[in-house]
Amino acid sequence: MTTDTQLTVTVAGGSYPVVVAAGALVSLPIRLMELGLRGALWLVSDAAVTQSCSEPLAARLRAAGFTVHTYSVPSGETSKSPAQLARLYDWMLSGSVERRDAVLALGGGVVGDLAGFAAANILRGITVIQLPTTLLAMVDAAVGGKTGINHALGKNLIGAFHQPRLVLADTITLTTLPPRELRAGWAEVIKYGVISDAGLFTDLEGLAATHRWDARPSSSWPAQDEELTGHLTAIIKRAVAVKVGVVSRDEREQGERVILNYGHTIAHAVETLTGYGTLLHGEAVAIGMHAAARIAVALGLAEVGMAERQRRLLAAYGLSVAMPAGLDPEAVIAATLRDKKVQAKQVRWVLPTKIGAVVLRDDVPEALVRQAIGA
Ligand SMILES: NC(=O)c1ccc[n+]([C@@H]2O[C@H](COP(=O)([O-])OP(=O)(O)OC[C@H]3O[C@@H](n4cnc5c(N)ncnc54)[C@H](O)[C@@H]3O)[C@@H](O)[C@H]2O)c1
Repeated sequence: MTTDTQLTVTVAGGSYPVVVAAGALVSLPIRLMELGLRGALWLVSDAAVTQSCSEPLAARLRAAGFTVHTYSVPSGETSKSPAQLARLYDWMLSGSVERRDAVLALGGGVVGDLAGFAAANILRGITVIQLPTTLLAMVDAAVGGKTGINHALGKNLIGAFHQPRLVLADTITLTTLPPRELRAGWAEVIKYGVISDAGLFTDLEGLAATHRWDARPSSSWPAQDEELTGHLTAIIKRAVAVKVGVVSRDEREQGERVILNYGHTIAHAVETLTGYGTLLHGEAVAIGMHAAARIAVALGLAEVGMAERQRRLLAAYGLSVAMPAGLDPEAVIAATLRDKKVQAKQVRWVLPTKIGAVVLRDDVPEALVRQAIGA
């Protein structure tokens, strides 16, 4: 048995391990065997990780006796499309996919959502294994079972809950991640500290004091820097632990899971108004977290120092909290009302009371929002 300490998501349909470790992918063949998976493997990756990750992984799996089919989708959000999904179905069905087979989703959140959705539907659902290769996918997208694609009318409008049987995050894969993508992932990590783990937040502050995270921490990172890789892996694991806990307590987003949307109300509005692709999601989340903290301060829920401490940590990880220039505050407010999560025309705000705790409020006056997103 593989024995390193691991996190476990427990949901209605069963439980699954979430492994975060440097070099974790090496253990994939044995872990698949332990899960009793003996069918063919449908390895989906994106162009950015095909050569560095997918090909060596496929070779390792074949050496262990697995039949492996590989498919690479173009990098980027446009791959989460009905057309790309149809191509995946064609590939799998023409290759005689069987119910005992498994899809391996190796890549960022785009691959995880797309391949996960294909696995949820093909032959009425087959196993999916999530193998995240971006910081954002490791701490967020790969855990929790949300899968889906975009529609011309909006993001993530077609989807399904389909929990993976295993999540394996190999932090070494982050070596090749562009620094901007890494920074965007940090926003979600910091978010977990604010919503539920003050200790994680403090540790992130400590790490910021000893290393620069607004760019790649060192040219040899992480492959030749074991200490740094160790810190990073430990931090990612703690961030994932927050998501694992929340998802285990509220699989279908009927209660607590909504706190994961901290910063996302304004973030979605800003993303919509600037056009998807201008800002990375994590960059928009940083802006949204700052606005939410300012709202909390204005409501007397949190102290000014809390918002400032959050702003400083975001800055230390290379994240700006400034609204994009030229964005009309009225348009931002109007966009928050169109958000998917709005119920009965009330925006449900996730607001911090201190580092490590949030509350839900649906009675925030528009004037306060206007003030929080103003200059
Ligand atoms: N299912 C969920 O719960 C959930 C949660 C959050 C976000 N998401 C979704 O996740 C997506 C965003 O995920 P993302 O930020 O990972 O984006 P992404 O998948 O587009 O990856 C970002 C970029 O990094 C590249 N890349 C990936 N891994 C790499 C590596 N190791 N080295 C070099 N380049 C690499 C990709 O090709 C891409 O260009 C969105 O579609 C979002 O809707 C889903």
